Formats: sequence, structure tokens, C-alpha cells
Amino acid sequence: MNISGFYKLSAEERLKKIKEIAKLTDEEASILADAGGLKLEVSDRMIENVIGNVHLPLGIATNFKINGKEYLVPMALEEPSVVAAASKAAKLTLPEGFTAEAEEPIMIGQVQIVKVKDAVESIKKLEERKEDIVKISKEHLKGIEKYGGGLRNIIFRTLKTSRGDMVLAEFEVDMRDAMGANMMNTLLEAIGATVAEIAGGKARLKIISNLATKRKVKVKAVWKKENIGEEAIEKILDGYELAANDIYRCATHNKGVMNGIDAVALACGQDWRAIEAGMHAYAAIDGYKPITHYEKDKEGNIIGTIEIPMAVATVGGATGTIETAKVALKILDAKTSQELGMVMAAVGLANNFAALYALGTEGIQKGHMKLHARNIAVLAGASTPEEIDKVADEMAKEQKYNLDFAKEALKRIKG
Ligand code: MEV
Repeated sequence: MNISGFYKLSAEERLKKIKEIAKLTDEEASILADAGGLKLEVSDRMIENVIGNVHLPLGIATNFKINGKEYLVPMALEEPSVVAAASKAAKLTLPEGFTAEAEEPIMIGQVQIVKVKDAVESIKKLEERKEDIVKISKEHLKGIEKYGGGLRNIIFRTLKTSRGDMVLAEFEVDMRDAMGANMMNTLLEAIGATVAEIAGGKARLKIISNLATKRKVKVKAVWKKENIGEEAIEKILDGYELAANDIYRCATHNKGVMNGIDAVALACGQDWRAIEAGMHAYAAIDGYKPITHYEKDKEGNIIGTIEIPMAVATVGGATGTIETAKVALKILDAKTSQELGMVMAAVGLANNFAALYALGTEGIQKGHMKLHARNIAVLAGASTPEEIDKVADEMAKEQKYNLDFAKEALKRIKG
């Protein structure tokens, strides 16, 4: 796919290019161009008290090759530099690109049972009646069984709490290409009372867990010594080590990962709060740790890996209602939820690598300030691309990023 110089094109030209590559129809392309892609009457059915829509810029990260397949990755966010950083880090993995694997798309749901007399005895009773519980559960999962998903396991365990012993019945359901929260919660609410009765207690919470440890993806990339430089590799490893040993840095490290993952999630109509919750809980399983890992191989190249729960969907929920999400998913062209999860994790890894690279070398402000200067140039009245670039260049040269300086510079440029 020849997409070099993509960033130099105007928004219209870029859209034209993506339209060609992703074979978008005129209508699909105009949805992206139209700020009102999400019709108000649709929004009004999605949430409550709707008065309008919020819009975010939609960019395309380039150079992503994962398991040999090339991707154009839609990213929606308000922060400058993130799309460019992801594209740059991805480019530096080429020609090999990323390798990735995904577990089966299994979600876990919990029924909490309280007021049990003897938790061990309750578990025994539940185990004895497991087949019946499986049978009833399956009745509620016929929809997903049609697509090859369905119940995979039920686990019973006890919990000692300050409000007495409790029992948890955990349902593991293969959700295939759906995220699965609705399906899971429907199942749990339907079966909760029965399970509690068998256990001799009362059902309380019946809800999916966002710690999707059965639905993880793993992505790996090797950044070659000759592309990165030995010195930069050492600096990246120093930066990584700080995150691995200090929670204050670790939070920011993981935030940089989520810059990429959340942006793809937003573009593609995913539940990014669920993904965020899952990431942080997973990162904290053995004390809060970086969600990525870096080390050197024998040749001195740097290997980056990420392992993260990825509860995402290519069908259902907002993927079917938000028009821009539908088109974004078409551009991304992931055939399954697992494939989408692998792409998202690769973007997270790329953004994290780019941040560590920049922080270890020239810092991140240079790139940020360049974009900031262009924004100020527009505020100062620069109206053509040439004027904006010239005013921004002067601001960078003099290291003066304020409106008054930009106005003066514009006056000089206009003569
Ligand atoms: C900014 O949005 C993200 C970074 O702070 C991430 C990091 O520090 O690794 C640059």
C-alpha cells in the first residue's frame, strides 16, 4: 500500500486516498467529511438528555503491519502528536512489522451470593448441580452459540469478607465478535436467583467483570539497533526501568500506551472505559506494573511487548449505531474482535515506544510546540497554509509561543 507522504496531504486529499484504498462509497466518505455524521435522532436513542454530539478529530495512523497484514488505523483524539508518533514508531518496525496473538474472546461474569450458612457446603451443592446450571445458561446463550460462541466454563469460589462469607459463581462466555457486556449481564440476571437458591443464599450483584483476563492479546515488535541507535536504546531501557520501579512514572507510562488504544477505541465505537478499567486492573494484579515490557536481544536490538486484556467488538453496541465508527471499522478492516484487539494493542505499544524514544532523546515538547505554534498562528490571523507555516517557523526560531509575537510575525510576513 503506497501511502507515503500521507501527512502532507490536505484533509480532503487524505480522505480521497483512504476512500480509494478502503473502497469507501461516496456516501461513506461524505459521512466522514460531514461533521454531523452522527444523526441527532440516533444519538437521542443512545443516551439520555441529548442536545447534540461531541466531535473529535479523526486521524489515520499509517505503517502498521501486523502478522504480515497492513492496516490503516483510525484514531480519534484531541491531543497533537499521538497519531504521528504511532505512525513513526510503526514505520521503524518495518519491513517485519508487529507479531501478535489473541486468546479466545472469553468474558467473565460474576454472580455474588451472600448470606450462605456454610460457603464450602454451598460450593459442594453448586458443583453437584453444575450440569443443570450449564443447561439453563445455554438456554440464554443461543444467540451467540449460532456464531460459534457460548458458555465455556463455570467456576465457583468462596470469598471471606467483613460482611461474612460469600460465594461467587463465575461464568466464562465466548463472545466471538461482540464485546459481550449486554449478553453477559442478561444471562447473569436471568440465572442469578437459581444459582443463589442452589447455594442456599441470596443473589446480590450480577455483572460482567472488566478484568478480561481470558481475553488477552499479546503483541511484539523488534526495533533494530541500526534504525534506533545503540545510545537511544539504552535511554529507552533506562526510561522503561523507571516505570518498572516507580508507580508515579508507571501511571504516565501506561497513559502513553492508552493514548493509542483509547484513540482507536473512540474511532471504532468501543467501550473505552471498559478497556481502561481492564488495563489498569491487569497492570495491578501483582502490584502496579507497566503494561509493556522492553529488553535487548542478542544482537542489541530492542524488543517491545505488550500483554493486555482487550474486550473489543466488531459487531454490536456503538459499532452498529455510530456511522463514523462503522466507516472507521471498514477502513481498519479487522475481520474479528481478536484481530481488532491485536491492532489496538500494537498501536498502544507503538505509542509507548515513541514516547520512550522521544523522552529519552529530544523530549516531547519540540514536536508538541510545533503544532501548538501552528494553532497560535491561526489565532493570530494567519489564513493560508504558507502564512501558518511561516508564522510557526518564526515562533520556533525565536522560541516565543505567544499570540502577540505571532501577530507581529504575521504583520512582517504580510509586509
Ligand atoms: C502524553 O500524552 C503521554 C506521555 O506522557 C507518555 C509518557 O510519558 O510515556 C508522553
